[in-house]
Amino acid sequence: MHFQLTEEHLAVQEAAREFAQTELLPGVIERDSEAKFPKEQVKKMGELGFMGMMVDPAYNGGGMDTISYVLAMEELSKIDASASVCMSVNNSLVCWGLEKYGSKAQKEKYLKRLATGEVIGAFCLSEPEAGSDATSQRTEAQLNGDHYILNGTKNWITNGSSASIYLVIAQTDASKGHKGISVFIVEKDWDGFIVGKKEDKLGIRGSDTHSLMFTDVKVPVENRIGEEGFGFTFAMETLNGGRIGIAAQALGIAAGAYEFALAYSKERKAFGKPISQHQAIQFKLADMATTIEAARLLVYKAAWLKDQGEDYSHASAMAKLYASQVAMDVTIEAVQVHGGYGYVKEYHVERLMRDAKITQIYEGTSEIQKIVISRGILR
Ligand code: CAA
Repeated sequence: MHFQLTEEHLAVQEAAREFAQTELLPGVIERDSEAKFPKEQVKKMGELGFMGMMVDPAYNGGGMDTISYVLAMEELSKIDASASVCMSVNNSLVCWGLEKYGSKAQKEKYLKRLATGEVIGAFCLSEPEAGSDATSQRTEAQLNGDHYILNGTKNWITNGSSASIYLVIAQTDASKGHKGISVFIVEKDWDGFIVGKKEDKLGIRGSDTHSLMFTDVKVPVENRIGEEGFGFTFAMETLNGGRIGIAAQALGIAAGAYEFALAYSKERKAFGKPISQHQAIQFKLADMATTIEAARLLVYKAAWLKDQGEDYSHASAMAKLYASQVAMDVTIEAVQVHGGYGYVKEYHVERLMRDAKITQIYEGTSEIQKIVISRGILR
């Protein structure tokens, strides 16, 4: 066992850190305030190879490992969790499943463009009445000759309006329960596909979260991924990896808030000395640093297991469960270290505190992670 990052890992980390500082930091407060999608920044992320990091170079990807991906996620999330969730969804919920289970033709047609960030993808599982209870899909796809007719509504879709390619989970045979669920690649400009209202959110306000409506959308049979009935397994396996990305995002949010708090504590003086010289603040910094390091170990371990080809479903659930709690705890304390300044937008930590909350909700709530973990323990 060793805890050393390779030269390649360090280079990815450094590139992501520099990108976050030079391209994401300027304007992040305004984008949050105006709920503005970081379009130009995401375009540059694609040019730098952040949108398809783990995809095979044969499909225009970076051919990197999952450790590299979490390092980049962590650095970007320190500054802009709205940009990083776009990256996470594209990498681990869209490109990964398409590469692993898509046909050669699907990869040629869609993955090559997704991996470069030329187009962005979205993953459409949640519905108004199927959130945590993901087997209760109401969206249906009925076979009609050489195509399916897709009808239904999806909710809380990240990259909802900025995406061009959507992986849509739908019922193809309701009598079979979760074994009657399939997954389809749907293009935005197809007739009957409407991007619905944009959500006005507490955090990750730059990320565009929408509902989507499908009315008699014709989806060619060749756009189904895998066999009929494979959709639920596809969603679960994809989310196992997606949760590593969100765990890395939570880790980055926590680490970013900690770095802001540490720097501030050295500058701000009270009672004649920097507040970092007061034990009340020192203990906060010690707790933050310790829990962040523990979260980091869980996140890297889950990524490492995935790279080794081992089972990582429980490790990714543990990483997300713990890192998202750390993100909440640390960001709240970072605001506290800043005092009144922490409560205003200029100092960044109030945004990170708002951003942290979603990591306990999306890609499976903390309660769902506990179901996954306990099933792993008891099986
Ligand atoms: N990995 C692989 N397979 C899994 C799995 C996992 N983590 N969890 C369940 N499965 C498989 C089971 O083995 C079972 O397969 P078989 O029938 O072949 O044995 C099948 O899926 C059904 O499983 P269950 O009987 O356990 O189903 P359930 O209804 O009791 O519970 C659940 C399943 C784990 C609660 C699941 O519904 C779940 O994960 N829910 C949360 C959904 C979620 O994470 N949504 C996030 C939305 S996406 C998002 O947020 C993206 C974004 O935009 C940021």
